[in-house]
Amino acid sequence: MKAIVVTDQAAGTAGMTLVERPEPQAALNDVVVQVHASGFTPGELTWPSTWTDRLGRDRTPSIPGQELAGVVTARGYGTTGLSVGQRVFGLADGHRGGTLAEYVAIEARNLAPLPADVDFTVGASLPMPGLTAWQGLFEHGRLQAGQSILVHGAAGGVGSMVTQLAREAGAYVIGTGRTADRQTALGFGAREFVDLENDVLEEVGGVDLVFDVIGGDIGKRSTGLIRAGGTLVTIAGPPEVRPADGLAIDFVVVPDRAQLGEVVRRVRDGRLRTNIGKVSTLDDAVAAFNPTQRITGKTIISVRP
Ligand SMILES: NC(=O)c1ccc[n+]([C@@H]2O[C@H](COP(=O)([O-])OP(=O)(O)OC[C@H]3O[C@@H](n4cnc5c(N)ncnc54)[C@H](OP(=O)(O)O)[C@@H]3O)[C@@H](O)[C@H]2O)c1
Repeated sequence: MKAIVVTDQAAGTAGMTLVERPEPQAALNDVVVQVHASGFTPGELTWPSTWTDRLGRDRTPSIPGQELAGVVTARGYGTTGLSVGQRVFGLADGHRGGTLAEYVAIEARNLAPLPADVDFTVGASLPMPGLTAWQGLFEHGRLQAGQSILVHGAAGGVGSMVTQLAREAGAYVIGTGRTADRQTALGFGAREFVDLENDVLEEVGGVDLVFDVIGGDIGKRSTGLIRAGGTLVTIAGPPEVRPADGLAIDFVVVPDRAQLGEVVRRVRDGRLRTNIGKVSTLDDAVAAFNPTQRITGKTIISVRP
């Protein structure tokens, strides 16, 4: 089968190559999925799990990609809950990845049924942003209706989901991003927008929750905006500064079938819009992940157009 592989962490996305690899076999509780569309998250090539197994052993050449939508073609020993021929979508375990390929072996529990009226490209764009937003807002951030939330990178993959889900939950959303992102962030439901290149972040005043996807100096400065009893939720690694009277929680997204169902239900009934910036083929994927101009939204690979 055709697959994208990486062998050199220092090379980043420029080190991706399209090669032939053996088709994967379904292990215990796995299914094999013929991938129709695949998603890739910026930053994945910096995550340790892309390069090592759970014991820290080198697992290169690795096939990156954790998001997929496709059709089940085989089941492993003991696998229940999914059938051969079923349309599915989901998030691969970080230490396995493997979705930038024509086939992937994945634990069945990491997948949910993909309704017939949802395109594979849409299905592949939902798992990472959808689950990350859901877990950050409702499990870690414990967002309540009426609270205010500062969402960094609100025009991006994760931030646009956070913005929409927080707004639907009854929160007052302040989005941030680059100058060019204003209309996109407002279009996803932010009530206000802070241009991080020109505005003064500190003028936002107090918020109950900060959802940080950027980290660094932006993350540090945001901590000071959190009201007493509030929370900083970050997906940009362990925070350097904690709120004076609040919680700081960093987390790594985990697969969750029920939450995938919540996300896709909202997409079907129009409450949630996915954020796809570009669709490419597997043959053109390496170029697509090394763009010469800025793309907002996710790059999705249509593996089986
Ligand atoms: N821990 C986890 O479980 C987890 C899960 C998902 C994603 N992540 C990480 O979270 C980050 C966001 O992922 P994503 O898929 O949402 O990426 P994305 O689609 O690129 O969105 C990030 C957004 O933030 C903007 N941004 C970044 N730095 C900025 C700055 N200094 N000032 C203003 N705007 C800035 C980006 O603009 P530009 O594109 O112009 O930079 C982009 O619009 C990535 O680093 C990813 O690896 C972590």
